[in-house]
Amino acid sequence: MHHALQALTDELRRLKTAGVKTVSVSEESITALRRVVAERAQRAPSVPRATAPTADAAAVPAAAPVKAAAAPKPYEPPAARSFAAKPAAPDEAAPRLPDAPVVTLPAGDKATRWAALHALVMNDPTCSQNVRPGKKVVLGVGSLDARIMFVGEAPGAEEEIQGEPFVGPAGQLLTKMIQAMGQKRSDVYIGNIMNWRPQMPTVDGREQVGNRPPTEREMTYCLPYLRAQIDVVNPELLVALGSTAAQGLLGFGSFKALGDIRGRWHEFAGKPLMVTYHPSYILRNQSNRSKRMIWEDLLKVMERATLAISEKQRAFFLDR
Ligand code: URA
Repeated sequence: MHHALQALTDELRRLKTAGVKTVSVSEESITALRRVVAERAQRAPSVPRATAPTADAAAVPAAAPVKAAAAPKPYEPPAARSFAAKPAAPDEAAPRLPDAPVVTLPAGDKATRWAALHALVMNDPTCSQNVRPGKKVVLGVGSLDARIMFVGEAPGAEEEIQGEPFVGPAGQLLTKMIQAMGQKRSDVYIGNIMNWRPQMPTVDGREQVGNRPPTEREMTYCLPYLRAQIDVVNPELLVALGSTAAQGLLGFGSFKALGDIRGRWHEFAGKPLMVTYHPSYILRNQSNRSKRMIWEDLLKVMERATLAISEKQRAFFLDR
């Protein structure tokens, strides 16, 4: 119960920061929140209401118009939003940012240029200011000779701890997808639109619960670093994983639903770009039908990269 309330409180704070004035809250949640307010009031009866450290959520039952009895949405991992083709979070949801960096790398081989880029990103004060103490800025990982580069949305909880993209549950699934393509994770390059995990308010200095999609400004800030990685690695093909990655690469408002543009070839930085669903779509939709949709997109990538495709691979997930 405590975690659920914590998550609800965080989500209400995020929505408030994003300018949302009305929310739909179930009777059950309102009752639970009222109980929290009452318990707090009992614990600190002498604190005047106006200055009391009440959670925003605690104020909601009294102040916010309750429209419907829909259950509050639990937190979703970034990709759960990604495939829903949601727009980027409103810019007000994030701290103000300076202009996007201009990246100039030294001449030299790929390793030299990537190392210089890595140093640039790790020493970028804007990146550092956007991660919490003890957490890491994240740059892409993989072979500098990769023929295929996957692009995701942003580091999540596990990624900002390890400083590597796609190492959490969605990342483990991505690794399996890569292996199903007959490749090793170390054969490809894996990057993200963002170099930091988009922050959300936390309560009492506790760990951030859940993720929010990056704002347009955040993505614009980090994009030169992704472009530089594409420039250094020079892959033959790009694969955007999920709606946010697709928006970052193809432009905001360039499509309505991911379903309209996935499975087709687009272009970014002069490279063919395949758009598909984010692996966490599969984490939430375990049906063979969903797996087959992504797999068909990846078969197109394999075909274009002239990777060998066995009959068995062609038939993966066909038993609907
Ligand atoms: N989701 C992403 O889009 N990127 C990561 O690095 C991890 C999860």
